[in-house]
Amino acid sequence: PGFLILNGPNLNLLGLRQPEVYGHTTLADVEAMCREHAERIGVTVEFAQSNSEGTLVDHIHSCRERLDGLILNAGAYTHTSVALMDAISSAEVPAIELHLSNVHAREEFRHVSYIAKVAVGVICGFGPRGYTLAMDAMQAHLERAR
Ligand code: DQA
Repeated sequence: PGFLILNGPNLNLLGLRQPEVYGHTTLADVEAMCREHAERIGVTVEFAQSNSEGTLVDHIHSCRERLDGLILNAGAYTHTSVALMDAISSAEVPAIELHLSNVHAREEFRHVSYIAKVAVGVICGFGPRGYTLAMDAMQAHLERAR
């Protein structure tokens, strides 16, 4: 199976941005962890980041009839973007919503998610480890669906 691990706005600054909230691990570190984990569990991964909503839509569309799962940390677009929600429906690919922080323990506006409405499930609050948890969860989901 092939997964796309897609990251939204401001996540390029992971490790530098608000380390008290998001920690010191960089997105390059996360990518390395994911690639190592992919080999361990026998999947292939593509890893991408964009600060632009439209580019994220294009990345989501690229999964259609090509990849088996989408793991999406949409950053703040999670809480605002009907376009990303519709892109997931249009791509017809199982998606897992992911956040480093526990969004439910934070501001009220982070409790709303458009992504969750079309996702298989949500993982949040486990920091960078959430990425590998999401890979395991996607693999388990695909095995269940088979
Ligand atoms: C985030 C949580 C979002 O609310 C926030 O806007 C982010 C990061 C997380 O990974 O915890 O940019 O998606």
